[in-house]
Amino acid sequence: MLGRDIRKGLIKVGKFLITGGTPLEGEIKVSGAKNAALPIITAALLADSPSRLLDIPNLRDVTNLCDIIEKMGAKVERKGHEVIINPADLNKFEADHELARKLRASYYILGVLLARNGTARTSLPGGCNIGNRPIDLHLKGFKALGAEVRLDHGIVEVKANKLKGERIYLDYPSVGATINIMLAATKAEGKTIIENAAREPEIVDLANYLTVMGAKIKGVGTDIIKIEGIKSLKGAEHRIIPDRIEAGTYMMAAALTRGNVFVKNVLAEHVKPLIAKLHEMGVEIDEQISGVNVKNRGRLKAVDIKTLPYPGFPTDLQSQMMVLLTQADGTSLVIETVWENRFMHVDELKRMGADIKIDGHSALIKPSHLTGAEVTATDLRAGAALILAGLIAQGDTEIRESYHIERGYENIEKKLQGIGARIRKVEE
Ligand code: EPZ
Repeated sequence: MLGRDIRKGLIKVGKFLITGGTPLEGEIKVSGAKNAALPIITAALLADSPSRLLDIPNLRDVTNLCDIIEKMGAKVERKGHEVIINPADLNKFEADHELARKLRASYYILGVLLARNGTARTSLPGGCNIGNRPIDLHLKGFKALGAEVRLDHGIVEVKANKLKGERIYLDYPSVGATINIMLAATKAEGKTIIENAAREPEIVDLANYLTVMGAKIKGVGTDIIKIEGIKSLKGAEHRIIPDRIEAGTYMMAAALTRGNVFVKNVLAEHVKPLIAKLHEMGVEIDEQISGVNVKNRGRLKAVDIKTLPYPGFPTDLQSQMMVLLTQADGTSLVIETVWENRFMHVDELKRMGADIKIDGHSALIKPSHLTGAEVTATDLRAGAALILAGLIAQGDTEIRESYHIERGYENIEKKLQGIGARIRKVEE
């Protein structure tokens, strides 16, 4: 689908050019979290009055979602990182199919519109190609609340005369399913209890916004979330939390290049598993209120990583960590347990000289010398890993299909230039 958009000229084809070998020094500022902004923008449609959202990152996924809700009748004003959403005139309960397929998070329309109007339709969502991405747990939750669900030729339709609170056990603590059920339950009659819920900070951020809107939610950040449905919600002002994955990527860039960088606007609490691993590897970390300083002057030590739902090591930092491990003394083991197809960066890293062996969901990484090469970003975080690799490779690296990276990192080349990286973007 992206290939078709490129051919139509809807997406500018760009590449990043990087010359490796410079230690990063200085201060870099993290933007608001993409994965909190997307459900929160959608949740603004639950209210009867406007919401003012702050620190919304300027990313293509955000633009696509704003376009989707505008086409449904909501009024959206964007000024820099501020977005004002007025849902009063919402009159369409179906998301534009072409746009909806471009981002995974478009499925939050289902939970929100089910709560607001008792009906919603959207095409099955897209997003990064990192494995089979079912939404069975979302649909199981909607059904438990009393909705009818129909799947037909890639279109999902949900309908309910009345939603009724229920006890819902998730077989897996899915981030998306927890959010979608929470959204639908805000206006259901009675109490909904989500057991084995996901605990990610983005879910807590959404619940904080919903609470200011008037929703009654308890237990977020634990694996049991309780929602007491209410009749109406009002618009509210909310500032999005910092993006912990963007922050983690820059923290690793600092450690990798043997630099000294203050990563500003990150909550250390949200990147605990990464801080623990960087400590083990011999990196100096100084946690401050406004950010985290990362300094590394020596060799890195090998460590093992297993990705897990929060508060475990995040899958969204796995590919970047793998680049760090190519520069560590000793052999490291990485086990990916969240997504089935999240080693796509490995073949590209091998083209740069990495010594990595994959066996199913595990990868064995040995130290290697990386050299610049022409590589392709196959998904968002795989692309971020290639940028990190380019920063330490000998010579020049060219990363094609930069749009994958731009889905999740605002102005990444400018931010990295600000701490001394030799990186530029070329649009074709
Ligand atoms: C969110 O995806 C993030 N995306 C992902 O970030 C992140 O990798 C993931 O959570 C895990 O942290 C957004 O927030 C927009 P899940 P989500 O539902 O909600 C299985 C990035 O790079 N599953 O927790 O789609 C699923 O197949 C992106 O920013 C079911 O089986 O993740 C996967 O194996 C990529 N049935 C696992 O659960 C379902 O109904 C985790 O998925 C739902 C999920």
